[in-house]
Amino acid sequence: MMMQYILDTAHLESIRHAFEYYPIDGVTTNPTIISREHSDFAKLILEIRHLIGDDKMLHIQTTGDTAEQMVREAVALKEYVGGNFYAKIPTSEDGIKAMREIKKRGINVTATAIFTQQQALIAARAGADYVAPYVNRLDNIASDGVQVVADIVQLFRNFDIKTKVLSASFKTTEQVHKIALAGGHAVTISPDLLSNLIYHPLTNYAIDDFNADWESAYGKVGILDLLK
Ligand code: E4P
Repeated sequence: MMMQYILDTAHLESIRHAFEYYPIDGVTTNPTIISREHSDFAKLILEIRHLIGDDKMLHIQTTGDTAEQMVREAVALKEYVGGNFYAKIPTSEDGIKAMREIKKRGINVTATAIFTQQQALIAARAGADYVAPYVNRLDNIASDGVQVVADIVQLFRNFDIKTKVLSASFKTTEQVHKIALAGGHAVTISPDLLSNLIYHPLTNYAIDDFNADWESAYGKVGILDLLK
């Protein structure tokens, strides 16, 4: 399976743009990302679903403190947004209990706020479809986010676990690249980081040069004009 690119935002215009231009597999949100939009939560998540369509993954985080609240929220969210939905559950003790229950109800689970290899392994055993380790937050506390992800990927291989690693919390293109090399199954990134992944000034210079050479030979006409 090729690494999946997911968009870590609830900003509608950015989602519209990214899905029009890039091969994007879904959208992830968390309470912080949602709160940045200062809009009606129910309306916003439905708008995201309509924008991306039913086939694309939509990961929405629960906010309840207890396992019971998380389960009830996951069931309600799944019913409300429909389509390819993942309940994002923080990997606390209550979260682990909730993941097991939510899976029993046939709802996809993404275990989030993962900082250690054992959190990932236990979440996988609890039935999580994805585990989301926070790469940049690990780097920021003088840990090694890429190494934690590489270890989790290896553990899942060792035990033939089908759970996928959805790496999150990125600040640089280098972090994303190293996750791809480590065999991470998916990354969720901001719209800005997504465009940085394909940006290179030499690419832009090359395009400008091609255009200038073409124009000096053929003038301001395109290929379609010349094929008439
Ligand atoms: C996504 O699932 C995470 O919540 C997000 O990537 C965290 O990113 P941050 O560390 O930039 O807040």
